[in-house]
Amino acid sequence: MSTLTSERPLATFAPTPDNSRASQDFEVVALEENVGAEIVGIDLGIPLNSADLARVHKAHLDHHVVVFRDQRITPEQHIAFSRHFGKLIIHVLHQFHLKGHPEILTVSNIIEDGKPIGLGDAGKYWHSDISYKPLPSLGSLLHAQELPSEGGDTLFANMHAAYETLPTHLRQAVEGRQAAHSYLAKYDQMKREANWRPTLSPAQLAQVDEVIHPVVRTHPETGRRALFVSEGFTTRIEGLPEDESRTLLDELFAHSIRPENIYRHKWREHDLVFWDNRSLIHLAAGCPPELRRKLYRTTIEGDVPY
Ligand code: SIN
Repeated sequence: MSTLTSERPLATFAPTPDNSRASQDFEVVALEENVGAEIVGIDLGIPLNSADLARVHKAHLDHHVVVFRDQRITPEQHIAFSRHFGKLIIHVLHQFHLKGHPEILTVSNIIEDGKPIGLGDAGKYWHSDISYKPLPSLGSLLHAQELPSEGGDTLFANMHAAYETLPTHLRQAVEGRQAAHSYLAKYDQMKREANWRPTLSPAQLAQVDEVIHPVVRTHPETGRRALFVSEGFTTRIEGLPEDESRTLLDELFAHSIRPENIYRHKWREHDLVFWDNRSLIHLAAGCPPELRRKLYRTTIEGDVPY
């Protein structure tokens, strides 16, 4: 069963390294068979040379989510490292940009002076970041600032594996299909469930028009095919009656999150986690509401899915 396609040339990685630096002595250690690796012995506070960036880039493509422990880096260093992989997306919820750094979205359940300092329910449903835009995200980098003593894990599911293990009837049902993605898919529901989400202004609403993407996408750098739908943002399969679309989406969502294709990240202080939104969906498992959790996220722009 081939999951590669040669229809288009593959995208190339073009970072801006600092080649005056010596290579760092780090290792890539796989975490689960299908997803996840830890990059051990690297300091992202030091600008990386091209050989080191190429190794990090390869680990990211091979393992889809890479974990860097104990990164005592500033928001500026977080942004600089993220920019090696592409242009950064400015999130529509400007209310939760880190002050002075609109490239960083604060993900947090902390309330200060009666107001949330971040998006408290980010990742409550499985999703791929920014799949609701014409140019969805290549990947995201989440850096731990303050962690709860209990809970707060993030789960990642491998969507190549999901595609490759689809039963025949589902493989046939998705072939050539397209689906609608919307930022608003669960927005009102989440706004009602907890009080994190601001009412969107007309200018914000204008930034999140529904988009249509293929249900199966080709990874632009590896050529590997992946399922590209999620509970969080996918609202319907184009060209199917509503009930059939709902049934098919529910089957695809359930199939995508089989335990053997999941890596569950248990956060430690100063972790930075970098995942691939083209090959994974992810979920924030949540923590007891009285425990403080704060992380900073950068999000890299990707390509038009095909
Ligand atoms: C996200 O979906 O970007 C947030 C994930 C998390 O808070 O664990």
